[in-house]
Amino acid sequence: MLHNDKLEQWDRENFFHPSTHLAEFARGNVAQRVITGGSGCHIEDRDGNRMLDAFAGLYCVNVGYGRPEIAEAIAIQAKELAYYHSYVGHGTEASITLAKMVLDRAPDHMSKVYFGQSGSDANETNIKLIWYYNNILGRPLKKKIISRWRGYHGSGLMTGSLTGLELFHKKFDLPLAGVLHTEAPDYFRRDDLAQSESEFVAHCVSKLEEMIHREGADTIAAFIGEPVLGTGGIVPPPEGYWPAIQAVLDRHDILLIADEVVTGFGRLGTMFGSEHYGMRPDLITIAKGLTSAYAPLSGSIVSEKMWAVLERGTDENGPIGHGWTYSAHPIGAAAGVANLELIDKLGLMENASTVGTYLNDQMRSALGDHPHVGDVRGTGMICAVELVENKDNRRFYDAGDKVGPQISAKLLEQNSVIARAMPQGDILGFAPPFCLTHAEADQVVEATVQAVTSVLG
Ligand SMILES: Cc1ncc(COP(=O)(O)O)c(C=O)c1O
Repeated sequence: MLHNDKLEQWDRENFFHPSTHLAEFARGNVAQRVITGGSGCHIEDRDGNRMLDAFAGLYCVNVGYGRPEIAEAIAIQAKELAYYHSYVGHGTEASITLAKMVLDRAPDHMSKVYFGQSGSDANETNIKLIWYYNNILGRPLKKKIISRWRGYHGSGLMTGSLTGLELFHKKFDLPLAGVLHTEAPDYFRRDDLAQSESEFVAHCVSKLEEMIHREGADTIAAFIGEPVLGTGGIVPPPEGYWPAIQAVLDRHDILLIADEVVTGFGRLGTMFGSEHYGMRPDLITIAKGLTSAYAPLSGSIVSEKMWAVLERGTDENGPIGHGWTYSAHPIGAAAGVANLELIDKLGLMENASTVGTYLNDQMRSALGDHPHVGDVRGTGMICAVELVENKDNRRFYDAGDKVGPQISAKLLEQNSVIARAMPQGDILGFAPPFCLTHAEADQVVEATVQAVTSVLG
């Protein structure tokens, strides 16, 4: 890259950074980081600092950085055919091949995949398809969507509404009408500390039942959830949660969207989280791990049950009124094909399972007894450390103390390890690339212990 002394200045003057404190950035109080390269689990900035990225970007660079196989597939596609649309029956070799590869990996009852660009737009697609589906079935009132507090489903108008985090609603006039939020399946944060895990699951189920009863099942179209809560705090569900929720949904003819943007294609050590937890989704949202973020591409995988109704809908109403210029973009599709091939060829999903389990075990044994670590949790290649002021009565820190952000800053400063301070609560998130080695896992754990100790003693 060319050296350019003005880059930092141009950045402050021109670049609107997402999820950033805009005023603090303008005042120079938010560090500017210009990332220039990456290889395996490491990235480099333009000052030559090398960092172990234990969050794989935004838990998306699943195969790791600098994979020539994917870069070459992208270059070949760009030279041969950088773009053609997928409207009215058009496709490319890459997009058709990728659709087949996705369906080969999806649960058996899934039928087709619609490709978009981001996780947010894939969830927008899902909601439109659900509304269309119920209109075709003659159920015009069955339209509300139930999401969970602490769920994350994107930051568009509808998907930002589905997201159950205050920051994504406040001052944006969200959530939109017709979106409801129910209890987060976060056992550690349960209100009633005396509850056992199974009592807590029963509590979540009864909250959902109450909501359905109050609103009327004939007004509720779907329930959306991540198999493991992600941005809301990296929380695996309590034992038996998904089968119990699935039973309620089935009883009331409510569709299930499994948002597998984080969990899809191996992060939990299984191809999808749905199969891991006994969910039977009608739609599956995919993005990040589909291309390991080498190019933007997302998808909505549609079940046979829904597909039959969508076909009927077009017989009655003409072509489906949904599509984007960049749907199934060939460069994204070429990246997706090369990425899924690489995951298989290198056994990366298996590595996510074995090294991920090791990372979780080591983190738990190193920090589980620390007086300010309330919870260490995770599964596969995803892990979280939640900090508390008082462990005995589970008193949380004041949000203003910014304990989580302080520790993640310390991790970077002291040990060049990137962990994410999750946006709500003092929670450190780890979701490294699947190629993490045992030695790198040790490094992440040791660095975390040091950072926690230097901030909290
Ligand atoms: C579970 C989940 N769904 C949807 C999204 C939104 O994806 P995108 O940021 O690509 O719009 C995310 C992003 O982190 C996510 O974690």
